[in-house]
Amino acid sequence: MEQRSQWGTRAGFILAAVGSAVGLGNIWRFPYVAYENGGGAFFIPYLFALLTAGIPILIMEFTIGHKYRGSAPLSFFRMKGKGAEWLGWWGIFVSFVISTYYAVIIAWAMKYTIYSFNTAWGDDTGGFLFGSVLNLADTPGEVGGIVPGVLLPLLLVWALAFIILLAGVKRGIELANRIFIPMLVVVFLLVVIRALTLDGAVLGLEAFFKPDLSKLANSQVWVAAYGHIFFSLSIAFAIMITYSSYLPKKSDITNNAFITGFANSGFELLAGIGVFAALGFMATQANTSVAEVASAGVGLAFVVFPKIINEMPGMSGLFGALFFLSLVLAGLTSLISICETYIAGVQDKFNVSRTKSVVFGVGLAAIISLLFATRGGLYFLDVADYFINQFGVAAIGLVEVILIAWVFKKLRVFENHANEISDIRVGMWWKVCLSVVTPIVLGYMMFDLLRINIF
Ligand code: PHE
Repeated sequence: MEQRSQWGTRAGFILAAVGSAVGLGNIWRFPYVAYENGGGAFFIPYLFALLTAGIPILIMEFTIGHKYRGSAPLSFFRMKGKGAEWLGWWGIFVSFVISTYYAVIIAWAMKYTIYSFNTAWGDDTGGFLFGSVLNLADTPGEVGGIVPGVLLPLLLVWALAFIILLAGVKRGIELANRIFIPMLVVVFLLVVIRALTLDGAVLGLEAFFKPDLSKLANSQVWVAAYGHIFFSLSIAFAIMITYSSYLPKKSDITNNAFITGFANSGFELLAGIGVFAALGFMATQANTSVAEVASAGVGLAFVVFPKIINEMPGMSGLFGALFFLSLVLAGLTSLISICETYIAGVQDKFNVSRTKSVVFGVGLAAIISLLFATRGGLYFLDVADYFINQFGVAAIGLVEVILIAWVFKKLRVFENHANEISDIRVGMWWKVCLSVVTPIVLGYMMFDLLRINIF
């Protein structure tokens, strides 16, 4: 058996955890989720979810990985035998599915980085995305526009992930994050500063921050906040357990969890400011309201942003390229973390070398991802994303906290483990959040979803 890998430095681990958390979700998901759920008022449920579920679960998952030193299935097995191992595989399954379409979105962002320079999308940016770009993928390898179809960038994304993962935890994942994350921060800051200096930026910020307090009475807003925190922090996906299993024995878990949580939220806030400043500009140009130009999901990044870039004065191509490059960088570091969960899982379970596990895991994911790069691929992507986000995440989170807090009764043990090595002590608040607050909110969330979808 190969010796278990370890992070080289503490900063390396934190950068990798932040790299996993900061992803596509921060840049295109957070701004519109916040806006739709009360704008400024959304920060209340958001902070509540961060402090009662996000950071407490992060501390718990870091503790599990650090204490049991295994991939998610192995860690759960060491915690409570066969009866718990499946929970790790469930997380791995969800991660695997996410990785197959996450890679496709990064591939689009890569294409758009290049398109930006000469605004290749023309005036009808929606028609361009759904017509030219997505249909191009129908005939893999066909050359159209200025770069070949989605296939080529998709292969490039997988090749990058493959090389980084093959190089190992320290020389691959850690090194990649040490390069990509500082780069992302610089690139994204440039985007935000430029967006803030556009005409009408203030209008966008007003729309984003203006609180609609009446929304706080709506339980859906609270559900949205919890759902977003889970996705954004990459918790309940087996990822953070895997990453923390590579920590050296003497590591301050609690402190690391706070840093990761706040860094992720800070980036998210920055993204909201940048995106809405740009939307304010767009609304001013089109003489409408911000609500009119804001759009959800894929449309925000790939339809609305190209429009904004079309309208921008001076060096708009560069602005566009930097915006899409930040999507690529943020996405890649998250993709690597998702793949690492199943690579580590397979390696631990079947006792194979890292190389074999990477070839098998990444290879299989790459092949399946081709499905999303075909005509109609967007449809599959939407369906997969919907089910994963709605059912996968909340359900795993719920089962995880109930089993650990109430069935396995492990919170006391984890509390001691975390406190042994940290300056920040966890105690009552942490246990109450995990055993009472989070199960109630997630339970309500599941109940609500079943009600909406089935009845
Ligand atoms: N946290 C990442 C984001 O915000 C997404 C992600 C989800 C990463 C699941 C890994 C696993 O985009």
